[in-house]
Amino acid sequence: MLRVVVMVSGGGTNLQAILDAIDSGKITNASVEAVISNNSGAYALERARKHQIPAVCISPKSYPDRAAFHQALLETVREYRPDLIVLAGFLVTIPAEMIKEYRNRIINIHPSLIPSFCGVGYYGLKVHEAALKRGVKITGATVHYVDEGVDSGPILLQKAVEVKEGDTPEILQRRVMEEAEWQILPEAINRIANSK
Ligand code: GRF
Repeated sequence: MLRVVVMVSGGGTNLQAILDAIDSGKITNASVEAVISNNSGAYALERARKHQIPAVCISPKSYPDRAAFHQALLETVREYRPDLIVLAGFLVTIPAEMIKEYRNRIINIHPSLIPSFCGVGYYGLKVHEAALKRGVKITGATVHYVDEGVDSGPILLQKAVEVKEGDTPEILQRRVMEEAEWQILPEAINRIANSK
């Protein structure tokens, strides 16, 4: 059984896609051991609780400085002994020590086809605003391993999504989630769990 820890900052629709895929058998040989958030108001924590999964908030506001916050984050992750850490809309830069300790065992979902619209400053709606501004006809999502750079680690899976006439960043964001993110993130976990 692959022990998975999911890290989240927001609504947690990607987390939900993972939980649903486990329930429906699309993901096998994996269990979500904990959901960790930096944001106590993240609805993702509620989704975890509804699934009887430990939901833990480690807020930077509770620590005197960044180093203490990073240490608390790392210690909490260690408690759950993950084989895989999934960043599902986690808006905190992963501390170098965690990357070192869990090398090739941290994956992230990014809402574009890397190397387009990624790197520093490209998160959330900004990614879709940039795609629309550039006028691309195809965008998508990418699951990649996390290394020391921003969105620079090896790519595991990608899925393309069409940009349509009249798209707003919000409409495009939703389509990228539905057609790509919610598909390829569970698929990546299933592949890792079954060593495919
Ligand atoms: C997703 O678009 C993801 O790609 C990005 O943050 C968003 C998270 O959404 N990194 P949710 O919290 O999973 O609903």
